Amino acid sequence: MKILVTGGAGYIGSHTVVLLIEAGYEVIVFDNFYNASKESIRRVEKIINQSIEVIEGDLRNRDDLKSVFEKHTISSVIHFAGLKAVGESVEKPLKYYDNNVNGSAVLCEVMAEYDCKSIIFSSSATVYGDPHTTPILEDFPLFATNPYGRSKLMVEEILRDVYVSDNTWKIILLRYFNPVGAHESGTIGEDPNGIPNNLMPFIAQTAVGKREYLSVFGDDYDTKDGTGVRDYIHVVDLAKGHVNALDRIENFKEVMTVNLGTGKGYSVLEMIRAFEKASNKKVAYKIAQRRAGDIATCFADPSYAKEVLDWKAEKSIDQMCEDGWRWQSQNPNGYKGIV
Ligand code: WQD
Repeated sequence: MKILVTGGAGYIGSHTVVLLIEAGYEVIVFDNFYNASKESIRRVEKIINQSIEVIEGDLRNRDDLKSVFEKHTISSVIHFAGLKAVGESVEKPLKYYDNNVNGSAVLCEVMAEYDCKSIIFSSSATVYGDPHTTPILEDFPLFATNPYGRSKLMVEEILRDVYVSDNTWKIILLRYFNPVGAHESGTIGEDPNGIPNNLMPFIAQTAVGKREYLSVFGDDYDTKDGTGVRDYIHVVDLAKGHVNALDRIENFKEVMTVNLGTGKGYSVLEMIRAFEKASNKKVAYKIAQRRAGDIATCFADPSYAKEVLDWKAEKSIDQMCEDGWRWQSQNPNGYKGIV
């Protein structure tokens, strides 16, 4: 069973590749390395003690994709490849629609051409917008508030339409909450380009001395301590959710949409304290203005994932911070500078 993992050199992709191979799947990685390093593949090979076939290419290039399906009989695709910076998507929406939406449409066309009609798509809780209540269920209203979120929602709609046109497709949409942490070895982890947009890499870089202090974007939300509350989920738990989905995809008779979250919400200040405990380092912070587009509270109801994927997040906030700190402290500059 060959599995094509688009974006397999990225943060979530690389962690998922490790678990797929450990579960006995044969993996082909397809990546344009725009947002990922070839070093992450070398690190994954070290963890699993075997080489991985990597095809460098761009989803928008039909010939790049066809070369994969010409060479390999792919049974399923796990589709991570895409741009994911909310702020950048507001400044450059067409870049996001071209990469994330057009790229996904080309992928589906080429898959169908080679009779590969099985896909797990990396979606996001951002498609829920500002939920009317929490915890969030999969049938909540969908309303993206930025081009990145809209690109995820558009791809979900494209996949639902593909299924209506041909119900032999097997499609699972996994809606991630906030992935954090790293593989326990500390050899792979999150390595954002430039100044991190997301909380945890910024906290980790502050703890390791790369950033002077963290700006806490608002402490006047209607939450336990006034700071934003999110459902942080260990990236290895998230990866396990993909393996469970792949194990079961042939059983499903319709498009399956599943939240991958812990069902618990933690505030920014709670995350700072947890990371200080894990790293034994002080994380300096200053209260700043709210960030445009942020919502107060977002966390999952993960019961459907347990029902249909037999999956439940197991790792604690402390483990997320300990594993994230091990990666950051062993790799202060991530994969940067390693050719
Ligand atoms: C978390 C909390 C911020 C940075 C985004 C995407 C989502 C997904 C995860 C891709 C919020 C606060 C953050 C900082 C802060 N990505 N914060 N200072 O916004 O929940 O979700 O990333 O799929 O789609 O929307 O994550 O980590 O950016 O923010 O105070 O420097 O931390 O206000 O409350 P978010 P985040």
